[in-house]
Amino acid sequence: MKKLATINRRQFIQLLAALSASVVVTDKSYAKATSIYKTIPKTGEKIPVIGMGTSRTFEDGLNSEQMPGLLQVMQAFFSMGGSLIDSSPMYGSAQQVIGQLLSQITMQHDLFAATKVWIDGKDEGILQMEESRQLWGIKRFDLMQIHNLVDWKTHLKTLQQMKAEGKIRYIGITTSHGRFHDQLNNILLNEDVDFIQLSYNIANREVESSLLPIAQDKGIAVIVNRPYQRGLLFRVVSNKPLPSWTKDFDCHSWGQYFLKFAVSHPAVTCAIPATTKVKHMKDNMQAGLGQLPTTSQRIKMFKYFETL
Ligand SMILES: NC(=O)c1ccc[n+]([C@@H]2O[C@H](COP(=O)([O-])OP(=O)(O)OC[C@H]3O[C@@H](n4cnc5c(N)ncnc54)[C@H](OP(=O)(O)O)[C@@H]3O)[C@@H](O)[C@H]2O)c1
Repeated sequence: MKKLATINRRQFIQLLAALSASVVVTDKSYAKATSIYKTIPKTGEKIPVIGMGTSRTFEDGLNSEQMPGLLQVMQAFFSMGGSLIDSSPMYGSAQQVIGQLLSQITMQHDLFAATKVWIDGKDEGILQMEESRQLWGIKRFDLMQIHNLVDWKTHLKTLQQMKAEGKIRYIGITTSHGRFHDQLNNILLNEDVDFIQLSYNIANREVESSLLPIAQDKGIAVIVNRPYQRGLLFRVVSNKPLPSWTKDFDCHSWGQYFLKFAVSHPAVTCAIPATTKVKHMKDNMQAGLGQLPTTSQRIKMFKYFETL
């Protein structure tokens, strides 16, 4: 992470956040709006509610003419206050693309680097994590997640050791598409993890009855993947006007509707939409500004969505 001379931006934001509940004013020039932060329960560290995923969107970057466009996407992400980028060795050349783009980003940024270990075996896992670190070109990962529970008992021990040695800051475990929920319930209840990543969106609310309450109760941060159901949610609302009441919580597009719904659940820490387009990145980051819907507004949102 690039450092400011005295206090870095993350520390500055944390300081402001400590003084002003969970919403802080950023110094961004793009808008005089408030960026929304949520707290990582285990440490009290605050991160922006909108992060960035890299599955599929960053996988082909090296083999095409996409790199300049992806650089703009990443620049837009950071310039609008983004921090958490999520990847995995599963995502083709995505980690190499991230590393190349990060080396070209000239602006000050606060990267919260999150990737995954996705292989069987202790030594293989250690090697894979080190390869990922080199691909990103960073000193250490903030968050290392066990991807889809692959050899999780083995990797959990390794990650606990790495965390104790300061090689990573947080330990996480991931799932998606509603898989492994019973196993994850047990892991959250019985093991020491800092983050869980799972699929949650307005059309797929299954985790509201199981994993989210457990995570909230145990003080485990939640990252939401597939907040757009891989883009499928946009098909449902295609050509449908956004209701005017969404302005009450600073929502101005369907993308913002879906993201604000996901991150306004009290157990959710952030969502990681993926995109190849600057205009979509800007739209996504706008979801992390202003107000989030209240509980009654959230109910209105999914009831309205069900009518579409
Ligand atoms: N098991 C796991 O650990 C796991 C599993 C799944 C996902 N993940 C993580 O979660 C991230 C997000 O999930 P995902 O990539 O599957 O799906 P997603 O973020 O729900 O949807 C991505 C799709 O939405 C489109 N999109 C993005 N922003 C938009 C906007 N503002 N307006 C209209 N369309 C928009 C993108 O197309 P454009 O490129 O055209 O914008 C892309 O096709 C992944 O990238 C990955 O990092 C983790």
